[in-house]
Amino acid sequence: MPEILNGPLSRRKALTTAGTVVGSALLPSSSGGYSPRAPQPILLMSPPPRYAIFTAIDIDIGSATPFFRRLRTSMLMLPASVEITIGFGASLFDKGVPFQRPRQLRQMPSFPGDLLHPDFTHGDVLIQICAAATEEAQSATHDLLSQTPHHRARWSVHGFRMDNREENGRALTRNLFGFTEGYGNPEREGSQRALREMIEVPDTAREPVWARAGTYQVVRLIRLAQALWDADPVNVQEKIIGRRRDGTRLDGTAPFANTPFGDADGSTTPLDSHVRRANPRLPEIEPPRLFRRSFSYSRGRDAFGNLDEGLLFVCYQADLTRGFEAVQRRLAGEALGRYTLTTGGGYFFVPAQLDPDRYWDR
Ligand code: HEM
Repeated sequence: MPEILNGPLSRRKALTTAGTVVGSALLPSSSGGYSPRAPQPILLMSPPPRYAIFTAIDIDIGSATPFFRRLRTSMLMLPASVEITIGFGASLFDKGVPFQRPRQLRQMPSFPGDLLHPDFTHGDVLIQICAAATEEAQSATHDLLSQTPHHRARWSVHGFRMDNREENGRALTRNLFGFTEGYGNPEREGSQRALREMIEVPDTAREPVWARAGTYQVVRLIRLAQALWDADPVNVQEKIIGRRRDGTRLDGTAPFANTPFGDADGSTTPLDSHVRRANPRLPEIEPPRLFRRSFSYSRGRDAFGNLDEGLLFVCYQADLTRGFEAVQRRLAGEALGRYTLTTGGGYFFVPAQLDPDRYWDR
């Protein structure tokens, strides 16, 4: 148990504790407020607030130190109720920051079928601000960015979680396709250790020391072809997802049960369904080693009059190859692919603590 979690910390006191990490992550404390010293991955394991704003920015590398110092100070001025996480993109390291790049961090590649738009992809730093009310997330984002000079905005997406709730230690939400997401996520409570192993870079990894206990973040802006989807009857949609809308498996298995599929031939749960591709539940295939914490997004119509809305897919893992990339590779050719188009996002590394003084100036 990290020292951070031992007992409530007064926010001010934590902010002023000399030489310690401050403000990069906020965990609910027993006083009902937020303790500002929780490691970011631990924060991300908590149930997500209903709204989120993701803002990717590029920084002027010559001003990197003042930028991060100001960012940290500005974060401390935000209301205790907002959740903030900061991730670093590969381009930050290409520009030459004086600390080592996490071993697996690179620019997110374009996977088969992707149509990545440069205006919505990558970035030196990704700021995620979540809150219970959209105005709160908005004003926190505005305050943070306006108080932190030396950056250029790159892209920004507002996310929301419909029907946001928690059941059986899993955060659930209904996506724009009308299906509930989160059942197949690892349980948060009860197996917190297993979840931490899945998302936090371990001390034993051949990673820079500063990256330990941090996590790799994958963001994918996935546009959903809503009209095409709505034209299909629900039973067809359920075959494409591989679960019923309420999460029940197609063979009747309860939503949270993780038993193998009984039909080797895919006659009940098609072999190209999303859930079966994502997690085939076969002894020779490792279960997904990622933790999803996604949002829906809606950005009105694009220049061609088409609705630009879909899934702001977000997942965290200790190992990108065993985590996101293993699942993404299996999803190639899935039936759902016809209804989705990935247009942006990126790979980022979320350090356990945003502590520029600990690794930045060396
Ligand atoms: C195209 C947009 C997507 C939609 C609409 C979608 C929707 C869903 C739904 C409804 C479920 C079943 C409920 C659940 O277990 O959460 C699910 C499961 C899952 N999805 Fe997705 N998903 C999408 C993209 C992705 C991507 C890009 C990945 C990772 C590369 C992914 C990984 C998973 C995993 C690991 C599961 C759990 C499977 C299980 O253990 O049963 N999904 N998704």
